[in-house]
Amino acid sequence: MIVLFLLFIYVQSFVTKPIVRNSIQLSDAFNTNEQKPPNTWKLLSQAFKDKARNWFIKRAIKTGVPWHDLTDYYEDNQRILKMIKEVSENKYLEYPLYYKQPFHGYEEGNLNWKAACEVEAATLSISSTYYDTNPFLSQDYMRFNVTQHIDHYSQETYNTHYTQSILDAGSSTGISTEYLYKSYPQCKSIHGIELSPYFNAVAQFNVKQKKLPIHHVHGNIENIPFENDSFSMIVCSFVFHEIPSEVITKILKEYYRVLAPGGILAIMDLDPDNLKKNLILNQFRKWAFEVTEPHIYKYYQYDMFGNMNKTGFKLLKKVKNDPLNCVWLGTK
Ligand SMILES: C[S@@+](CC[C@H](N)C(=O)[O-])C[C@H]1O[C@@H](n2cnc3c(N)ncnc32)[C@H](O)[C@@H]1O
Repeated sequence: MIVLFLLFIYVQSFVTKPIVRNSIQLSDAFNTNEQKPPNTWKLLSQAFKDKARNWFIKRAIKTGVPWHDLTDYYEDNQRILKMIKEVSENKYLEYPLYYKQPFHGYEEGNLNWKAACEVEAATLSISSTYYDTNPFLSQDYMRFNVTQHIDHYSQETYNTHYTQSILDAGSSTGISTEYLYKSYPQCKSIHGIELSPYFNAVAQFNVKQKKLPIHHVHGNIENIPFENDSFSMIVCSFVFHEIPSEVITKILKEYYRVLAPGGILAIMDLDPDNLKKNLILNQFRKWAFEVTEPHIYKYYQYDMFGNMNKTGFKLLKKVKNDPLNCVWLGTK
């Protein structure tokens, strides 16, 4: 998570600071080696990684994120979290190669407790500088923008915003799922599906603590453990930029399968057009950007509309969500 945070901090600085130089071409930044993290990450010394980590935490705190309060809360509840993981984990799941590599600054990617305990603080940091307000309100704006876009789309397409069943795909510790619940409290069923058993345990812990009618499932969005036509809405936020492109295509097909006819798919993520424009950077920023997200280059090139269309989604639309992210919408 720390490097997700790093990514956003850097990218935020791209949109808020003037471009320093333009000698680096976008093509220089493309790295086609999809299964491995950039070598530079592996070469970094532990001392450097620790330094970078402390810098990013300090920076989060400076923007108003109560980093230690948020992470201590989950550290203090380790015993119960471990028990929840024990009963909720699908021990037969096989983790794809892209998921087991060092990622977001953690040697075991999302498959560890440290990352799970830091998700909430790091997620809050993502949008903490998007708007001129505190990180909590900033996150509210970013998240509720997504559901407003979905509502507008639903209204113009089907003349209603009522939705019966929602799947939050790649739900992490359930932050995005909880926002969906707040936006659609009348919805009959809300599920989150997440591949990290650690993140899923935190999500289950939180819904129990807050008594929320949300169901979290440990699973892979490449093979969603639900029948055809199960959901009237699927929301997938901040997932695709972390996944190899051929897997995104596979996942789109899976979304199509589990979405009911007339249902809506909303994909929220970094806007490649926006980022491409801002990727003319100095060497250091380019390196810092590359080192954080192993699949980002292919993601920029990914033809979301073309692939949504090929999968069968129709009435496609793309809208700006906030300074950095967009939402792609489609229906079945
Ligand atoms: C950056 S987080 C976004 C979480 C959340 N949707 C949000 O908006 O805050 C991406 C999540 O997708 C999960 N993920 C990645 N690949 C996945 C897969 N194949 N199946 C299920 N979850 C996956 C990651 O573990 C991570 O928790």
